[in-house]
Amino acid sequence: MDIQTLGRSILPENYRFLQQHVYSHVGIVLEEDKQYLFESRLAPIVKQLGLESTNDLCVLLHDKGKKELSRRVAEAMTTNETYFFREPNHYEAIRSALLPKLREDRQHNKILRFWSAAASTGQEAYSLAMLLLAERMGNWDIQILGTDFSSKVVERARAGLFHQIEVNRGLPASLLVKHFRPSGLDWN
Ligand SMILES: C[S@@+](CC[C@H](N)C(=O)[O-])C[C@H]1O[C@@H](n2cnc3c(N)ncnc32)[C@H](O)[C@@H]1O
Repeated sequence: MDIQTLGRSILPENYRFLQQHVYSHVGIVLEEDKQYLFESRLAPIVKQLGLESTNDLCVLLHDKGKKELSRRVAEAMTTNETYFFREPNHYEAIRSALLPKLREDRQHNKILRFWSAAASTGQEAYSLAMLLLAERMGNWDIQILGTDFSSKVVERARAGLFHQIEVNRGLPASLLVKHFRPSGLDWN
């Protein structure tokens, strides 16, 4: 390790503090080898605040009044990877095992509520909606709630606007043209 890298690396006590910080805010366990991840994800915050290093950010974070900064740091450490019909086996299980049971149980009122509890930018919730429509449940009273720790991704999910690269991931062309309209380089 050269002197420059050494000067910038996160001190062990700050590393432990950041691990604990992320765990207590979002329940994510970041192991001992995530030095680079902390450095790279927190670098924009360090830069924006005009700080020298992640260690300086930890000093600021120790101030309990810094609620918004605390939230931003935890949010920066979340991984928002998602795409349409991610984990196809789960959707197949919903289609072939869960839905037949729910159809039977809720036949009397046709009410269903779903919760995508870490929804990221919404592909999971929209995939479920498309699946339910394909299963001819459009006349049911269905709500799909999407929530996420990160308000940034929730805003994107709410907009329902997806870039061409995003719709290329997991979404069959037949469903794209059926449920989305082109909007410049995006689809919504
Ligand atoms: C890898 S993405 C998964 C998105 C989607 N569920 C999927 O499978 O495609 C994980 C998401 O979980 C969110 N997350 C992590 N910890 C969370 C928590 N404690 N509460 C709510 N959301 C959380 C992150 O912000 C991120 O958007």
